[in-house]
Parts: sequence; structure tokens; C-alpha cells
Amino acid sequence: ERVVVVYGGDSAERDVSLKSGAAIIAALERQGVNVQGYDPREGGLVGLEKLAPTAVFVALHGRGGEDGTLQGALELLNIPYTGSGVLASALGMDKQRTKQVWHALALPTPESIMLHSDADWAGVVAQLGLPLIVKPVHEGSTLGISIVDDQASLESAYHDAARFDARVMAERFIQGDEYTVSLLSDQVLPAIRVEVPGGFYDYEAKYLTDTTEYHLPCGLSHDDEAALATLCQQAFAAVGGQGWGRVDVMRDSDGRFWLLEVNTVPGMTDHSLVPQSAAHAGISFDQLVMRILQTAGQ
Ligand code: DAL
Ligand code: MG
Repeated sequence: ERVVVVYGGDSAERDVSLKSGAAIIAALERQGVNVQGYDPREGGLVGLEKLAPTAVFVALHGRGGEDGTLQGALELLNIPYTGSGVLASALGMDKQRTKQVWHALALPTPESIMLHSDADWAGVVAQLGLPLIVKPVHEGSTLGISIVDDQASLESAYHDAARFDARVMAERFIQGDEYTVSLLSDQVLPAIRVEVPGGFYDYEAKYLTDTTEYHLPCGLSHDDEAALATLCQQAFAAVGGQGWGRVDVMRDSDGRFWLLEVNTVPGMTDHSLVPQSAAHAGISFDQLVMRILQTAGQ
């Protein structure tokens, strides 16, 4: 047995992935697994193949790893890997097409419009209202995302997002509470409500500050949390997700849930959500990592 944790990579989420991967490697080592880390930035796919892994633990976030490309390569090499396959990985990395799938299945997701450099800014504001969200279609960890409060800021928000991605979307802003639900095989882990005092759950609030509040239990009634769990399972299944993942959701002031996105390789840093949710369900970090490893080849 030789498990290779693939982490780092070249995406904008490299630093997050380095932390996720290091935590995963340490957990596997503690449990006596023959494990090695590998950063594809160093030797690409050829270097990975030379290590002759019996299984790959995918700990890359973002493009070039979470997005189906690595998964496709591993399929061709016949190496089992954790988590979602090619389709769900590629779809999950595309926030807009994920929404199209959900929309087609009548799963609730906020309305959105694709932006381009000569977009009809006034028309976008008229359709989605203010504030609205501008986000790169293929990005994680909230990189390149802004909340736009007035029409005058929309174009510069577009250009900020366009630094990360050729495709940028505007999305209706859901005023309310943010929840996240982690899925581990067919188990739905307890929902977390994320609260950022005076701010929004951006890169800094996710990884750099210690003021972000993670409410666990999340405070929903039993029935509402059950409805949220079912919705997130449906949302994950809709994109073909497998093994493990995380679904991010808003709840508006009328109590309606709105799906934002799926993450097929969620963060596993010490600030990350899946490990917190697992811990609340009585699953230690080491057990969580082992259960994710067991999704390889399934
Ligand atoms: N994209 C980051 C790693 C997450 O979803 O946790
Ligand atoms: Mg994400």
C-alpha cells in the first residue's frame, strides 16, 4: 500500500491546499498508513505516476485538481482516488453550470447573470436588485468575490473577479444566514451556521481571523435541519457528487433555503468546516481522513 496525498498545485487556492494536505498526511501517518505527499507543481503527472500510488488522496483545491482534470488523468492511469469523479468535479468547479443543473431539477438557487466587459450594468442591477454578488465562475475560498452595493461599483467588481477567471457571474444576494452541510459517504454531518461579525465570509474570515463564529449545533429546528440535509444531499447527487463534499447554502428571512455551490474537495485546514462538523458528530479528524480515504475506488 502506498497512499499519495496530492496537494499544493498551481491554483489560487494553493496555500489552502498545502494546509489541507499537511493535516491529512499527518493524520494518515498517525494511523500507520504508508503515505507520501506530492505537489504536482514539482513533477507534474509524470512524477506522480513514478510514485506508483495504490490510491491517491486528492487534496488539491481549485483548478487543476478539484476540477476533474486530475481525476481524468487518474482514471487513465487506473489509480483509485478519493471523492468525486470527473463529471462531478468539473461541474462542481463551475458555479454557473451547477446552478443550471439545480434549476433544471427545481432545486432552489439564486438567479444569476453572466457578465462581460461591456455588460448592460444597469440591466443587471434592474434584474438582480442590490446588493448583488459578483463571483468568478471557477474559483474557491471566496477569491475574487464581492458584494456590490451600488451600480457604480459593479464594473470594478467585475474586473476584480475577472483577474481570477475568464468567466464571471452576478448573482442575486440572499439576505439571511449562511449554512454549510458536509457529506461523508451517505452520512449527512451536522449543519454549521457561519457568522462573520460585521462582515462576510471571505478568504480572510475563512482562514486568517479567529473572529468568525461557527455555530454547531446550527440553531435550526429539527425539522428545518432535516429539510436542509435532504436538500444538500439532492444538490450533491444532482451534480453526481461522490464520497464526500460540502454544500453551501443561504437561508433567507422567510426561512427558505437557497443553494450556492458544492465543493467536491472541501478544505481540511484547522479552520475548515468539514472537520468541525465531523467532530460534532463524534468523528475525529483521524477517523474522518480514514473514511475519506476509503472512498477511493468506490
Ligand atoms: N474551496 C475551499 C477549500 C473549501 O470549500 O473549503
Ligand atoms: Mg467553494
